Amino acid sequence: MVMKLTGYTIVIGIALLVAAFLLIGSAGIATWEYSNSDQFCGQACHQVHPQEPFAHSVISQHSQVSCVECHIGRMGFLESAIEKAGHIKHAWSLIVGYDRPLYSTSLTSAEKSCVSCHPKDTAHHHNSIRTIKHYDQDAKNTEHKTSLIMRTMGRSFGKETRLDMNWHASGAVKYRIDDPQQRSIRWVEATLPDGSKREYQDVRNPLSEQELALTDNVKTMDCINCHNQAGHPFFNPESVIDMALSSGILSSKLPFVKKRMVDLVNKDFDTAEQAQELVDHAWTEYLAELEGISSKKSKKEAVEDLKQLQTPMLGLMVRSKHLEDEGIDWSSFPDHMGHRDTPGCFRCHNGRMQTDDNLVIPVNCTSCHSIPLVTTRGRIPPYYTEQIGMRKPRDHRDPAYMSKHMDQATESCDSCHGAINYGNDDKSHCSNSGCHSADWKNLDLDALRTPDAN
Ligand code: HEC
Ligand code: HEC
Ligand code: HEC
Ligand code: HEC
Ligand code: HEC
Ligand code: HEC
Repeated sequence: MVMKLTGYTIVIGIALLVAAFLLIGSAGIATWEYSNSDQFCGQACHQVHPQEPFAHSVISQHSQVSCVECHIGRMGFLESAIEKAGHIKHAWSLIVGYDRPLYSTSLTSAEKSCVSCHPKDTAHHHNSIRTIKHYDQDAKNTEHKTSLIMRTMGRSFGKETRLDMNWHASGAVKYRIDDPQQRSIRWVEATLPDGSKREYQDVRNPLSEQELALTDNVKTMDCINCHNQAGHPFFNPESVIDMALSSGILSSKLPFVKKRMVDLVNKDFDTAEQAQELVDHAWTEYLAELEGISSKKSKKEAVEDLKQLQTPMLGLMVRSKHLEDEGIDWSSFPDHMGHRDTPGCFRCHNGRMQTDDNLVIPVNCTSCHSIPLVTTRGRIPPYYTEQIGMRKPRDHRDPAYMSKHMDQATESCDSCHGAINYGNDDKSHCSNSGCHSADWKNLDLDALRTPDAN
């Protein structure tokens, strides 16, 4: 009897234990899974950072990659649990408050995130053509298409150097930062493929002895230093309108649509309700105007498209101003790729970064991409096609050539580039609007022209 009872108890005991284990286990697994979800990262803490989840789910190429896969990394359970414990400090910031704009202090290395999906040797294995479209604010929303061959795998002809994007991410580039968002860089050390080292300093604003003695501002360049917005891009709203026109979401047949939309996103408002009123008002006005202009069927369809865009436009307005945080907008988050809206590559490739013996981090446009090919209404400028396949003279390979070409321009250039015509009408080599219609304010060619004066 005693034996029987004990056996019975043991069976019950084991059953209970197994049940408890399963219960705790599955609760544990559920909790673990929840703590890995985008919902937990994005919303559990009362919208600490509402901007990133929106940009991640709506605009990013990585909308299917979860927050933790980049922020903590892709790894096994144990390693991941240890990494995650380190992120507990975010809970403390929730109480004491965050610096605004927010920046990441706990992001894992690119090795554990990006590289686990994009192996280093396959990341930039070819050069590719990038086409960007911009639209004028005129009645026809005139389109200008800029095509660039991105030299991501480096240059591959002649005797030119072949430093490429992978070289930057190989541990060869060390730099010192001035601010947590890494907008400004004034010191760089590069280890070249032959093992030699070069130390570059900002000749306009060199580091002081004290700054040079610091060690916690030294970083090693990796994927994230260029692709910092891979997870959640914050585009200039004007670029978003260009993208909408380019992809056909917004019909470029609608007269003045670019101007209308730009005017709208630039309007001031304090609350989402006010933004809604502005959108409703602008829409009513614009639709009335369109009905008056034309009765063509195609335009009617475009008007229907426009109506469907009312809500996304409101979203863009509200998000580009980030109403949730006072004073924060898209420009609060720098984009380190390119050099249009923020310094990006020109943080280092700016003419100011020079060694003691005046070597420079290259600033020539063709170090990174081909000369911009700007086409308007499908017309390819003839000078451009004539130049393809032409050999570049030796002087063009000087890393500081861009600063000298204005002084050297003479008739000797005609044989290859045709007659010199300045401006930005895209009719000749020297009137390329891709080069001359933007104000590259982060490029300091003067710092190169007069090295001895610094
Ligand atoms: C879980 C896997 C994963 C992780 C982690 C990841 N990516 Fe990606 N990434 C992808 C996939 C898949 C695509 C292709 C998406 C597409 O084509 O729409 C992509 C696209 C890209 C692209 C755009 C390619 C193009 O179409 O031009 C870049 C650039 C990129 N990733 C860089 C990064 C960087 C930098 C990181 C780290 C911060 C990273 N990725 C982390 C999977 C990942
Ligand atoms: C020095 C800056 C720089 C670094 C560092 C860098 N990249 Fe890139 N990457 C670029 C540029 C520039 C492009 C081309 C972008 C474009 O076409 O607009 C690019 C394109 C890509 C693409 C698109 C596919 C392709 O080959 O065209 C992927 C994926 C990518 N990078 C992943 C990575 C990964 C992973 C790392 C780290 C190992 C990394 N990048 C480091 C500058 C960089
Ligand atoms: C493809 C990789 C990737 C994904 C996916 C990703 N992030 Fe990020 N995140 C980054 C990188 C890289 C930075 C660093 C940006 C910088 O230093 O400029 C960053 C920075 C941040 C920051 C600091 C502020 C900022 O924007 O620089 C926050 C907050 C953030 N991420 C939240 C999130 C949340 C929430 C998600 C999921 C909804 C997410 N991230 C998904 C790569 C990613
Ligand atoms: C932290 C500084 C830094 C940043 C940011 C940076 N680079 Fe570089 N880059 C360098 C250094 C240093 C060199 C090599 C200089 C030398 O030859 O001594 C270099 C060389 C290059 C070269 C080879 C040029 C040649 O003619 O050999 C290319 C191409 C290039 N970078 C592209 C880029 C692109 C594209 C970006 C932005 C997405 C970028 N770099 C951002 C530091 C940087
Ligand atoms: C250190 C590398 C580097 C150098 C030097 C450089 N660029 Fe770029 N440029 C880039 C990258 C990377 C992008 C692509 C950004 C993107 O993916 O949107 C770009 C984009 C552009 C665009 C398209 C911008 C847009 O949004 O319409 C133009 C035009 C351009 N560059 C012109 C120039 C000119 C002119 C020079 C020389 C004065 C120059 N670049 C020098 C890296 C460079
Ligand atoms: C023998 C033919 C030839 C002659 C002569 C010549 N160039 Fe060039 N130049 C080229 C070619 C080819 C390119 C395009 C290189 C490329 O795409 O990489 C170029 C590119 C350029 C660029 C853009 C460089 C860059 O890195 O962005 C400038 C500026 C330029 N040339 C100015 C001049 C001036 C000024 C003269 C006269 C002093 C001149 N060239 C004489 C063939 C020539």
